[in-house]
Amino acid sequence: MKINLTHLRKRKAEKEKFSVITCYDASFMQAVNLAGIDVILVGDSLGMVIKGYDSTVPVRMSDIVYHTECVARAQNSEHQAFIMADLPFMAYHSTQQTLENAAELMRAGANMVKLEGGAWQAETVTKLADRGIPVCAHLGLTPQSVDKLGGYRIQGRDQAQKDKLFSDAKELEKAGADIVLFECVPSSVTRELTKDLSVPTIGIGAGPDTDAQVLVLYDMLGLGHKHAKFVKNYLTKENIASENAIADALKCYDKEVKSGVYPGPEHQYN
Ligand code: KIV
Repeated sequence: MKINLTHLRKRKAEKEKFSVITCYDASFMQAVNLAGIDVILVGDSLGMVIKGYDSTVPVRMSDIVYHTECVARAQNSEHQAFIMADLPFMAYHSTQQTLENAAELMRAGANMVKLEGGAWQAETVTKLADRGIPVCAHLGLTPQSVDKLGGYRIQGRDQAQKDKLFSDAKELEKAGADIVLFECVPSSVTRELTKDLSVPTIGIGAGPDTDAQVLVLYDMLGLGHKHAKFVKNYLTKENIASENAIADALKCYDKEVKSGVYPGPEHQYN
């Protein structure tokens, strides 16, 4: 079954969680599909985990297009995840450029594009939605603005930031966003946001109450050395049941997200 937006909306309506993971190539895409993960994100995190940059800012459209094509070619199993692809830094600063770049990602095999930014993106979201391009709006910690934010910081802790998160999310939903993703936001805030929004929410470092969880693939496989509090390594002896260690780790992640085991209290911000 090929997962689509109707499936994801139904999960929210029925209060069933769905799983999301970043993925950038064909081999991992096959493993992700075998594990039954619902959504993959060709994230601009590839700039850090694949290309070795220290932020997502240097990532180009050509990088996301290349990796979207790689994962899309591996969509040949019975279960096929929904593919979301990031519009990278400054690839959506004018209407014309946004539409052309989003169309390129859809042609490469994406089913949805993701962009960072608040209510000021509402017009862009409507332009995409009107043309039949599904949009995920990324709020909270928006890594493409790391230099302006002054580092990777938790967002939504004080009342002003919290109010802004609510108004941004509502505006973007009204503008036509199909999913809202929250990164590094306290659990109490995303609990209310998820109740308030009619579209599904995805969280990363955003507590247990969002409709879905996402992790960066290489982080949850224990690669790299500097991990945020919300990261859980699934490539450990307890999670591996067969000789297919990576497939087992992915299955365990999928199961823990869907049963609400992940994220635990130790992976959350207050
Ligand atoms: O690029 C990415 O991997 C992301 C996730 C952190 C949500 O945007």
